[in-house]
Amino acid sequence: MTIESIPDLPEYSEASLDNAFALLERDARSEAAAAHLRLENDPDAWENFRLGWLGRKQGRLNQISSKWLKSAPPEARKSLGMRFNAFKAVLEALFASASGSGPSDAALAAEAIDITLPGTRRLTGAEHPITRTLNEIVSVFAALGYSVGVGPEVETDYYNFESMNFPPGHPARDTQDTLVVANQDRRQPRDRLLLRTHTSPVQMRTMESQPPPVRIVIPGKVHRNDAADATHSPIFHQVEGLCVDTNVTFSDLKGTLDHAMKALFGSSVKTRFFPSFFPFTEPSADVQISCIFCGGKGCRKCKQSGWIELLGCGMVDPAVFAFAAEKQPAYDPKKISGFAFGMGVERIAMMKYGISEIGQFYAGDMRFLGQFA
Ligand code: PHE
Repeated sequence: MTIESIPDLPEYSEASLDNAFALLERDARSEAAAAHLRLENDPDAWENFRLGWLGRKQGRLNQISSKWLKSAPPEARKSLGMRFNAFKAVLEALFASASGSGPSDAALAAEAIDITLPGTRRLTGAEHPITRTLNEIVSVFAALGYSVGVGPEVETDYYNFESMNFPPGHPARDTQDTLVVANQDRRQPRDRLLLRTHTSPVQMRTMESQPPPVRIVIPGKVHRNDAADATHSPIFHQVEGLCVDTNVTFSDLKGTLDHAMKALFGSSVKTRFFPSFFPFTEPSADVQISCIFCGGKGCRKCKQSGWIELLGCGMVDPAVFAFAAEKQPAYDPKKISGFAFGMGVERIAMMKYGISEIGQFYAGDMRFLGQFA
């Protein structure tokens, strides 16, 4: 249909619009009836009907609407537009009722699927070994009544060092060198930001936010200026623990960690506590477990000693309680006591699963990760 063959609208009164659209609808309905009859010999009858009316370029609806709208006075445009929309709905309904009679054989063939082909196999997702180990450690303590806390990875100097009893300039800070955020000269030294070197700052955040008693484990990511090698990574994970109450003693600490190590590595594992130093605990200890590879007889893994060092712990230093008491006076070291511990998740996962390269955890290699699915 050419643009010339489209009837002109004599005028734009409602009555003449009624009339014009009634004529269009009558045409469309009779063509639809004809297409229906033709269908037996002409499988494209309905498609031709659709193209003839609704086609983008040649379709009558578009041609008529652009011609009529162009010459319409502004006040008639709205009414005209609404009528075109209503008419379009009629056309679509006519076409839809026709399509209900079923798609053509060709259309069916085009979308047929070959059910004899093998399907696409979807890989089952699995927990990353670090996540799995971390959750396992947390649930050992959850069973003992510990709750779970988290804190920010970008931490202030105050929480990471000062309140953990590393005074400014103290050499113990050298053992935990890290990245610091640039351009903070205008801030107080204690407010300067750095990537936390341990999860211990969350001990202080927890105590500031609640009075004792506290039993909490804190899993999270930490950062240190350590060169990567087979057993070190500048980014790794820790699980911190803190227990504060009246009359908490070193034997509670020993009993708790001995239980936890047996829960993680098997009930035949023994623990021993070696004197150590951390600024925020006094006394401090390193916990060793009997070598899980040789059962304590001595092998390459335990350097023939029969023992493997696994985590740090100690009784919370009164100086740490004094920092907490600035916000929560109930942390009075004369009335309460507590212990804390911190363990490396990678190290524990490497022991549990016999992994000798820490870098495997971060490489994203499916040959490695697939073994944990
Ligand atoms: N924060 C210590 C570290 O990262 C571990 C630790 C935590 C030691 C709590 C004692 C008590 O090395």
